[in-house]
Amino acid sequence: MSVKEAYSEWSATYDVDRNLTRDLDRQVTRESLEHLHCKSIVEIGCGTGKNTPLLAKIAEKVLAIDFSQAMTDKAKEKIQADNVTFSVADVTGEWPCADQSADLIVCNLVLEHVADLSFIFSEAFRCLGSTRARKQTSSAKARQLRFKPSYTTYPILQRLQKRMG
Ligand SMILES: C[S@@+](CC[C@H](N)C(=O)[O-])C[C@H]1O[C@@H](n2cnc3c(N)ncnc32)[C@H](O)[C@@H]1O
Repeated sequence: MSVKEAYSEWSATYDVDRNLTRDLDRQVTRESLEHLHCKSIVEIGCGTGKNTPLLAKIAEKVLAIDFSQAMTDKAKEKIQADNVTFSVADVTGEWPCADQSADLIVCNLVLEHVADLSFIFSEAFRCLGSTRARKQTSSAKARQLRFKPSYTTYPILQRLQKRMG
């Protein structure tokens, strides 16, 4: 079974299954991002939209990308915000966003499925664009985060280590 097929199957229960990693990620993402204000966020691997409503609050617009139609459909059922657009696309190919169109890339619990991370970073760089990213970013925190799509990994690992003693 491919990763895409597995997520399509999981989509029915992804939000309700016991999953401490998912729950911790939601908490850490909220704590990390809730004070930002962005013009445009690209969320890759949005899944069922667990973090998308938060992004819709802190950004003028959000492009939420996932290659699973079923996961995306679940997200669309839950999120009707005018400033969120969903796109079904594989982020190991060219992302459906223009050069320098985003000031933050958000990516949670996705990169473990991607073999060639250098392509992901090159697309993130293309979509962000360094000069424009600096102009559009309204806080120092966002500037620190903009080239770190997987920034939540370290806080999550630290907390898991603490919980597991
Ligand atoms: C563990 S879920 C995480 C979903 C969401 N980010 C969250 O934190 O709940 C991983 C998601 O990444 C998506 N995904 C994995 N590989 C992908 C790829 N190459 N392109 C687009 N989406 C991908 C899957 O379809 C799935 O929805």
